[in-house]
Amino acid sequence: MCGIAGITRRRAGVLSDLLKALKNLEYRGYDSAGVAISLGSRLLVRKGVGTIDQVLGGVSLEDGRMGIGHTRWATHGGVSVENAHPHTSCDGRIALVHNGTLDGFERLREELRARGHVFKSDTDTEVIVHLVEEGIEEGLDPISSLSRALSELGGSYAVAMISADSDSIFVARYKSPLVIGIGNGENYCASDVAALLHLTREFVFLEDGELAEISPEGIRIWRMVGGKLESVNRGAERVEWVPQQMEKGGYEHFMMKEIFEQPHILRKLAETVEYYVKFSEGLRSALKDGWLSIVAAGTSLHAGMIGKYYLSRVSGLRSEVVIASEFPEWSHHLGKGDVVLAVSQSGETADVLEAIRIARDRGARVFSIVNVPGSTLTRLSEDYVFIQAGPEIGVAATKTFTAQVAVLYIIASLMSDSDSGVRLMRDLEVVSEEILGSMEGLSEEARNVAKLIRMSKHAFFLGRGINYPTALEGALKLKEISYIHAEGYAAGEYKHGPLALIEEGVPVIAVIPTEEALVNKIIYNLMEVRARGAFTITVQPPEVSLPSDREIRVRVRDELTSPIAYAVPLQLIAYHTAVELGRNPDKPRNLAKSVTVE
Ligand code: M6R
Repeated sequence: MCGIAGITRRRAGVLSDLLKALKNLEYRGYDSAGVAISLGSRLLVRKGVGTIDQVLGGVSLEDGRMGIGHTRWATHGGVSVENAHPHTSCDGRIALVHNGTLDGFERLREELRARGHVFKSDTDTEVIVHLVEEGIEEGLDPISSLSRALSELGGSYAVAMISADSDSIFVARYKSPLVIGIGNGENYCASDVAALLHLTREFVFLEDGELAEISPEGIRIWRMVGGKLESVNRGAERVEWVPQQMEKGGYEHFMMKEIFEQPHILRKLAETVEYYVKFSEGLRSALKDGWLSIVAAGTSLHAGMIGKYYLSRVSGLRSEVVIASEFPEWSHHLGKGDVVLAVSQSGETADVLEAIRIARDRGARVFSIVNVPGSTLTRLSEDYVFIQAGPEIGVAATKTFTAQVAVLYIIASLMSDSDSGVRLMRDLEVVSEEILGSMEGLSEEARNVAKLIRMSKHAFFLGRGINYPTALEGALKLKEISYIHAEGYAAGEYKHGPLALIEEGVPVIAVIPTEEALVNKIIYNLMEVRARGAFTITVQPPEVSLPSDREIRVRVRDELTSPIAYAVPLQLIAYHTAVELGRNPDKPRNLAKSVTVE
């Protein structure tokens, strides 16, 4: 879970643009960082432990026409200067950065050592650079040498390599993301498009198993076929994202900015309902009599559960939701005629990608709902749609959750009635208006709740029906950024065990349905926990009267769109609690935005 970037240009001076690209990638990991700059006849390498700013900010370095960089999240080898990337060859003339994990590198490292190579780190990555060095010494060109080195290793990689003897960056990818950015007299590479938005909006997307040479003048792509390199032609694609979306825009944290963006994204989705028609029709006709499995992880899994509800209630379709990492063990029944619908913000989550590969191997068709343009999931899917939420930088998913839910609502509605576009547009516009009008007030109320719960050791979230996954999402948000232990439960299930955890003052946050029959049931659940000392907070429609210690009143249009409206105060409670506790909500400990390892 690391980020890599590279720039090669005709004019000198790549450092500041390279550091900006790396900072845009810090959500992928930030325990150490480094760059290698080509100074014509030699390479300059600077690396260390800490964030980009800590390692490279304010450091005066010689600048050049080409450079590569890395922001690391340790997997093989501890966090140390030696293990930080770039890694260099014995003669210091080749430098390489890598995202991914390699199999079988230990044996190769011993063989290389026996042949006289000196290793400076404990990483798997360093093996690649020594193998490339050997290839070049044997007379291979850099791309053939890189390709041969990688063919000796298993696992996953996105690598970028420079040498003191060339103006080109050599890159390769397999099961880890890598995009190529196109400039004028300069070209770039990075782990994702967001990293390079300050430089370009034109991208070439590499497929697994491809390699490329990136020079200031152009790019060349190859694919390994039967041990040989075959040339590939591929055009550039323009992405809609703009660089301003990578800034905090006056907010203290990206997470807060992204929470406040939600009504605007919902309005955009309302205006573009038509965009989802073709995908919905394709999904409907692919399905026929087969199974529909929704596959996702984390927050996207919760959105997927709400999607299952929509498919059942709105479209009358049977589906199942499978945790991506569990998919291999829970999908033995899937095969030809079945469909997998993957939901992922990044489109790079390793568990999701592995599930998709297995589904394809078993003959199932794959459709996906994604946020990041050009991501691996889009390349592996028969068809995909974007949730149009723009780049999400905060590690905690917020705006992408509500956008995923809204898109699933659109798709389920269109699958059952292809003429539902106008109604959907009106529904989403109203939800957008209602959130927009109450955002500031909700934030204030959430801040007050945060002050009340911030010293708690545990918190429980209860929901029913469509808001059972909303409760799971509320708990996930709170635990991942405040580090308070939080669990979400189906309100009716709570009495089957978890009720034993209630003691004096434990916060129980209940997400209240809009439908009367369900409200009556959850009132009973609230009374149960209150009788045992719980401090109850209800996130509820304004008109309902409830046995609760604290109420957050939310304007909810109806049961179907309620998860979107309710997600907002739950996100705000998590945000304010983290801030009250002095945590950085954008970078929670131990977590990275894209989980690219299984
Ligand atoms: O990019 P994806 O949607 O596939 O990511 C899945 C999870 O890793 C992600 O939702 C994670 O749970 C978030 N940090 C939750 O806020």
